[in-house]
Amino acid sequence: MRMLITGVSGHLGGVTARRAAAAGWDVVGTYFSNPVAGGEALDVRDRDAVDGLVRKVKPDVVVHTAAGREDWPTIADGSAHVALAAARAGARLVHVSTEAVLSGRDVHYDESALPDPIYRYGAAKAAAETAVKAIDPAAAVVRTSLILGYGRGVHEKLTHDLIAGRAEGMLFTDQIRKPIHVDDLADALIELATNGHAGVLNVAGADPISRYDLGVLVAERDGLDPALIPHGPVPAGFTAPVDLRLIIDLAGRVLTTRLRGCREFLRSPAPGDR
Ligand SMILES: NC(=O)c1ccc[n+]([C@@H]2O[C@H](COP(=O)([O-])OP(=O)(O)OC[C@H]3O[C@@H](n4cnc5c(N)ncnc54)[C@H](OP(=O)(O)O)[C@@H]3O)[C@@H](O)[C@H]2O)c1
Repeated sequence: MRMLITGVSGHLGGVTARRAAAAGWDVVGTYFSNPVAGGEALDVRDRDAVDGLVRKVKPDVVVHTAAGREDWPTIADGSAHVALAAARAGARLVHVSTEAVLSGRDVHYDESALPDPIYRYGAAKAAAETAVKAIDPAAAVVRTSLILGYGRGVHEKLTHDLIAGRAEGMLFTDQIRKPIHVDDLADALIELATNGHAGVLNVAGADPISRYDLGVLVAERDGLDPALIPHGPVPAGFTAPVDLRLIIDLAGRVLTTRLRGCREFLRSPAPGDR
């Protein structure tokens, strides 16, 4: 069985490719600006290129992890191009979305929550979800939270940079998320490649935690001094969700992959996780 994964030069795509290959999949991966050995160059903004690659690869499953930051043509148009090409090829589609499609006003969200994004990245990802669901109602649309693991997560790098004085800003003591380990998310995507779940599925970690407390756990794991992390409450007028918790009860029924909480995976890190 062949799996086409977009964005294998990225954090999630790379780990998904490695774990899918280990599970016996014939994996073909794409990159955009950071070439990967054996990978296929692809710009998802180019509709014909996406269609041509999918026709050439003939995948059974397409796992779409590629995305840009606040980049509408890549996130919204690109996801539509991937969904159209997968549908034309009759391939199963597993699309990676985000909790950022939600505002956080309701705090706790199950899969029935409709997007109400409050910033540009979330809006583009919401548009992507809409396109994917319209083109292929059978596709799995995975909403996830902060992705950590192998020191490559955005939050892991930010924590290091804040402690080293390489970044400005702070970690908020009241901005709550349910972070997930990249291995768990990758395994969930691989499971969804064959389990037939249609529509939105929340795939996040088990523990709600503030971004500051998460930074403390990352610092402790990596032997850094947590006292050096600048921190404070979310300021007035902040334009990102504050307290946003994905309910993962359905994932517990649909998946066999166990979604660990961050306290578990940061306090007992796997080799190479730092
Ligand atoms: N990071 C998080 O905490 C988080 C949280 C929730 C949801 N997500 C979602 O999870 C997915 C993976 O995130 P990540 O952190 O692993 O991302 P990442 O490390 O930033 O990787 C992004 C990937 O997208 C590729 N890409 C960028 N522009 C492209 C284009 N125009 N055409 C084709 N490929 C392009 C990049 O290729 P090059 O590197 O070769 O340029 C890279 O492989 C994304 O869909 C993201 O929205 C992430």
